[in-house]
Amino acid sequence: MPLAVESGVFVVKNRRKNPLKIIPYVGCKSGFTDIFDKIIPTNIDEKIYDIFGGGGSFSFYACQRFGSYRVNYNDNNPVLVNLINELQSHPTELWEVYEDHYQKSSVEHYYEVREIPLVDGVESAGNFLYLAKNAFSGKIRFNSQNKFNSPIRKGSSCPKLDLQALQNLSEIIRDMAITNFDYREFKEVKNSLLYLDPPYFNNTKGHYNGVLKLKNFKSFLRRVEVYNNVVLSEQNDPALFGLTKNYKVFPITLNRSLQYITQTGSNEIIACNY
Ligand SMILES: C[S@@+](CC[C@H](N)C(=O)[O-])C[C@H]1O[C@@H](n2cnc3c(N)ncnc32)[C@H](O)[C@@H]1O
Repeated sequence: MPLAVESGVFVVKNRRKNPLKIIPYVGCKSGFTDIFDKIIPTNIDEKIYDIFGGGGSFSFYACQRFGSYRVNYNDNNPVLVNLINELQSHPTELWEVYEDHYQKSSVEHYYEVREIPLVDGVESAGNFLYLAKNAFSGKIRFNSQNKFNSPIRKGSSCPKLDLQALQNLSEIIRDMAITNFDYREFKEVKNSLLYLDPPYFNNTKGHYNGVLKLKNFKSFLRRVEVYNNVVLSEQNDPALFGLTKNYKVFPITLNRSLQYITQTGSNEIIACNY
């Protein structure tokens, strides 16, 4: 039986200045906060796992709304995890590293920084922050060895980073757990809310460090949906995931694609099993 699709379409609004965002990340959900407000009930008292955390926008949102001690950010990419760790523990030092790049910024400087390893400590995190905020069309891309390989954005100057905004975001995520695991490590989680925003299946663009096997993801989903509230973000037809009729499916319209800032518009879904 086909799944019931909720009537009415959610439209994503992208604000230029968003306090719950640190980098322009492919697939970033920072524009979805109004939608999460409607989909996730206020009275949940469970732990919240953002298992494909990426740029962290869902985790930041969940920390602000439910308290950071309830939230676990996870991603299997150590470069992203290092950035979120340093944002939490050393926001001022992170800003200082970025500010130094801001002063020196040029095309040559960008490509020099791109050669430095990005996975360890505040210096690395500041280097990655500089690259991420100056990458071409916000298209942050990694190869399968987690090496950042985006070209520089043409023709525009390095954006200024607001120290107070960074410190505020750090405070919002103060007690958040931060992990660097493969998603399958979470298969035994129970009595929690799991936000699942995997790399979109059937997408050949290769933005992230790898793609998931649909068969593995489906068996993970079949397991965790029994014991948890699950919220799944995707672009494909929900039938691909064999969702039961317990799921509600919400169509989402984006005024611009989450894949490319230069593209106009795309459609997505959010499905939840409660
Ligand atoms: C669509 S993005 C998530 C975007 C995120 N919600 C945001 O707002 O920025 C998918 C993320 O899954 C991560 N990822 C890919 N394979 C993974 C795996 N096997 N386990 C955990 N994370 C994985 C990628 O590094 C990427 O950051």
